[in-house]
Amino acid sequence: MYGSTGYSNGDHQQQPGAGEKRGASRGRRGGRRSRDLHGFRVSEYNHHQNISNNDDQQEQKSPPPCTDFDKAYFHSYAHVGIHEEMIKDRVRTETYKAAVMQHQSFIEGKVVMDVGCGTGILSIFCAQAGAKRVYAVDASDIAVQANEVVKANNLAERVIVLHGRVEDVEIDEEVDVIISEWMGYMLLYESMLGSVITARDRWLKRGGLILPCNATLYMAPITHPDRYNDSIGFWRNVYGIDMSAMLQLAKQCAFEEPCVETITGENVMTWPHVVKHVDCYTIQLHELESVSTRYKFQSMMRAPLHGFAFWFDVEFSGPANSPTNNHTQSLLIGTSNNNPVDGIPRKKRSNPNEALVLSTAPEDPPTHWQQTLVYFYDPIELEQDQIIEGSLTLSQSKENRRFMNILLEYSSGGRSYVKESVMR
Ligand SMILES: C[S@@+](CC[C@H](N)C(=O)[O-])C[C@H]1O[C@@H](n2cnc3c(N)ncnc32)[C@H](O)[C@@H]1O
Repeated sequence: MYGSTGYSNGDHQQQPGAGEKRGASRGRRGGRRSRDLHGFRVSEYNHHQNISNNDDQQEQKSPPPCTDFDKAYFHSYAHVGIHEEMIKDRVRTETYKAAVMQHQSFIEGKVVMDVGCGTGILSIFCAQAGAKRVYAVDASDIAVQANEVVKANNLAERVIVLHGRVEDVEIDEEVDVIISEWMGYMLLYESMLGSVITARDRWLKRGGLILPCNATLYMAPITHPDRYNDSIGFWRNVYGIDMSAMLQLAKQCAFEEPCVETITGENVMTWPHVVKHVDCYTIQLHELESVSTRYKFQSMMRAPLHGFAFWFDVEFSGPANSPTNNHTQSLLIGTSNNNPVDGIPRKKRSNPNEALVLSTAPEDPPTHWQQTLVYFYDPIELEQDQIIEGSLTLSQSKENRRFMNILLEYSSGGRSYVKESVMR
């Protein structure tokens, strides 16, 4: 815990020791590889202070346990490399900075919570925008460095670093603003959005602001002959030797799991389909356990279909046009005008001037999220205007809710296929 009164890191420990370097490997965001679990101080069962003891009033809720997978996840964020990669992603970091500055008049003099502060960069942006107080929360040992960064910038009076899970820490006031960079690959990988929901439900004032306020996950069929030939076609003729016997293994190894890669707009065969639209003001935890959609595409070209690409964007708008302030009205009319409805294809937002957008689309400047590709083991030759349709289910893995199960059903030209994979 940093600071004296009014807040705690949830496990009532003293200032953590210096963050040791434990050789966490840099790779996919969210601790894909690190499994070294030493040194974590995240409490397993802490009860929120504000929970009523009266069973009739409210069922007692304790925070979800911090599993070994969670500990490994937080451990991966103790490594400098992952923060360096994120901060050097200028599209990401500059969009967040611009969003803070765009909302300066709302942030000035207000209380902010940065959910998953990492090195503290977004908290410091908010302090620079005039926030009265910023709670910078992170369960990873990177919080130790965040605290040093805050002190070195003479912001210790206003930026309070809490080393603990958002689910466990305690503060004794409500907040006006929640800011968080929670998006994983394919938007929902990492399952960090749940922690933003927890923070919102514990502390956000009515009429408060969430940055970003909404997110949309898209999918589209892609053709990528170069990639396919590079990994698969290659085995047909290796220095004049027929190595086709390797083909099955090559397909399995290359395409069993989703791939995080950069493609371009030229790889995309149709307008995208909206898999899921997330309104950060209203989304509930249970909605994240499983997301399903049905899709139908009509190919705009004659080309081999190699799989599907996924990408997302997030919007920073409000509070003037945020659902919090228009909540009653939105409920009455059923939907807000700006929001894409799940399943309805759209090229891009219809009115790009309305909100600041951080996009990871293939046609936009690249980010560290790139795009996520689910390749088929064998391509399907598509004619122009040919239909490809099916369903997609993304669900949190039972083994580790930060992993994502992907069930893809697709049919075209009278044949049906199923591809199951896990993003881990
Ligand atoms: C994607 S990083 C963002 C870091 C920083 N905000 C930035 O923009 O550079 C997410 C951070 O959130 C932290 N985090 C994830 N879930 C958390 C939770 N439930 N409680 C506290 N910190 C969490 C991770 O440890 C990680 O440092």
